[in-house]
Amino acid sequence: MKRDYTSVLQLTDLHLFADPTGLFNNINTRDSFVKVLNHIQQHYENPDIIIITGDLVHDGAVEAYQYIAEALKIFSVPVYYVLGNHDYPENSSQVYPSEFVTTDKHCLLNHWQIILVDSNDQPMPDSYEGEVSYAELQRIKALMASHPDKSTVIAMHHNLPAHNDRGIDYEVRNHQQVMQCFEQLPNIKLVVSGHVHQEFVIVQQGICYLSTPATGYQSLSKSKCITNEAPAYRWLKLYNNGRFETDVRRINVWAS
Ligand SMILES: [Fe+2]
Repeated sequence: MKRDYTSVLQLTDLHLFADPTGLFNNINTRDSFVKVLNHIQQHYENPDIIIITGDLVHDGAVEAYQYIAEALKIFSVPVYYVLGNHDYPENSSQVYPSEFVTTDKHCLLNHWQIILVDSNDQPMPDSYEGEVSYAELQRIKALMASHPDKSTVIAMHHNLPAHNDRGIDYEVRNHQQVMQCFEQLPNIKLVVSGHVHQEFVIVQQGICYLSTPATGYQSLSKSKCITNEAPAYRWLKLYNNGRFETDVRRINVWAS
């Protein structure tokens, strides 16, 4: 029977190094990334699309971007990405686009569209905060106007809402302007992000804001309170009728 949905795998905050033994907060991020990919292959059907929401690498190494492209070949599906505050655009652009990794920032499906949004405008020294440019907001508005019949997912690195119970602050300097813009656009159903290395769900003004845990270390708050939770990833099922389902899955064998 023909499926009535598109399945999307979201991976985020890989923080890989050129050195295979590289550690970030005592986690071998390459090892945990491989464990995540193995877990997906063993337990689930192949996704239709993969999106990576930033912090692909930690040391900026071209080799780490190459490693990600090679590792994801096992799925043989298009990989879309946005960069995070730890990425190096000039190095990623030496590697991507590659066989499966596209640099397109718009994924048009039959009933949905995914808009990949850069949240790294005006980076400031020693700041992890992001910003979404005026031009990027105009691009989103134009795509929404061109495809008024599509339900829409926004994928970006930084989380837009705060989550006080989890110690998560606003991470986009112009979050108010961006969220107001989104609220005025019909058909934005989901905003998926990474950055804070933990899961949260906030529904506000009809938009579901989802944060997804990292494939590496897990955090309880911005204070770098590291938890022992296992690396994770998110599934999205985007149904043809505009409905969606989502959940976060964690790998089940983990010791840190
Ligand atoms: Fe990160």
